[in-house]
Amino acid sequence: MQKLSKFNTRYPFHPYPTGWFIVAFSDDLSPGDVKPAKYFGQDLVLFRTEDGKAVVADAHCPHLGAHLGYDSKVDGDSIVCPFHGWAFGSDGRCTRVPFTKLIPPRARIRVWPVVERSGLIFAWHDLDGREPYFRIPDADESRARPNTGFHRLHDDFGGAHPQDIFENAVDFGHFPGVHSTGRAMSNGPIRIDGHRFMSPIKVLPPGHEDPDEADAPPPMSFIDAEVIGGGFTRIESHSPMLPGLTTVTYVGGAPVDETLTHYRVMTFLLVAEDCPLSDEAITEIDRQMTEVTRAEQYSDGKIWPHKRYVARPMLSNVDGPFHAYRDWYAQFHPRIDADFSMAEAAE
Ligand code: FES
Ligand SMILES: [Fe+2]
Repeated sequence: MQKLSKFNTRYPFHPYPTGWFIVAFSDDLSPGDVKPAKYFGQDLVLFRTEDGKAVVADAHCPHLGAHLGYDSKVDGDSIVCPFHGWAFGSDGRCTRVPFTKLIPPRARIRVWPVVERSGLIFAWHDLDGREPYFRIPDADESRARPNTGFHRLHDDFGGAHPQDIFENAVDFGHFPGVHSTGRAMSNGPIRIDGHRFMSPIKVLPPGHEDPDEADAPPPMSFIDAEVIGGGFTRIESHSPMLPGLTTVTYVGGAPVDETLTHYRVMTFLLVAEDCPLSDEAITEIDRQMTEVTRAEQYSDGKIWPHKRYVARPMLSNVDGPFHAYRDWYAQFHPRIDADFSMAEAAE
């Protein structure tokens, strides 16, 4: 039996880091939809206004506590509580109380900062209560080919901490065993820019270990993995065999509570204007890559639920820069004091 930390988890740091977290796929939430959710140990409601704005808010109505995620309706810009019909706008303010014009001035629900892009709904979380202090970096995805790749929520990968999930970006050694590639290696120095951690990787074809061997084939792919804040990674990969194509992958890890993390993955293809491949070829490449990538998700997911966190790993000279990554990620652990209890954190 693994010893639990003071956080009641297998990690020696707080379960709820800071950053932008993927809490839904855009197509999970049509205009007028309302869904219950739970992240960071808190009951939430997700809804989309009739104008199309995605909203993430605390779930319970300040009037008498109904959960707004069940049986509420969207009316214009507001969500209408199923219990006594109070309505709350997308900014959280109460916009209507039935039978009276006197709206209690402090009646509101807390709405979370939300950004929606690339088919993903991101919510900002910071246990220290700071407003978003960094943006999700811009990325030109205007040449995304529609209906490529796939997206999926995995809710059966256990309680892997997001730090552990994104550690993949520096874990070169796990590629051959877990992802059935050849050897993976650094493809240049890591770059750190505030809340961004960038790790360039090259991957040899299966069965190949040594890039300097006489008949070594060229790398199968070049990967730029970028961890952005405490909540997600954006990965671009190119293959010399597939000129003009870039695979974009988003991986999100959003803690539901201290025992379960929602792992979301989305992939799609960018097609350069001068891509020499035919439409049919791209469709076929997408089909094959999607099949492989889908299967690969389960590979990491087999490890995470059962592993323990090794604070001082026994590294070898072929391992990636784990310490640099962990030191960088530490900025996203909340600054709550040492006398931690989950009850306090849930306040
Ligand atoms: S509990 Fe929501 S309106 Fe009364
Ligand atoms: Fe992996």
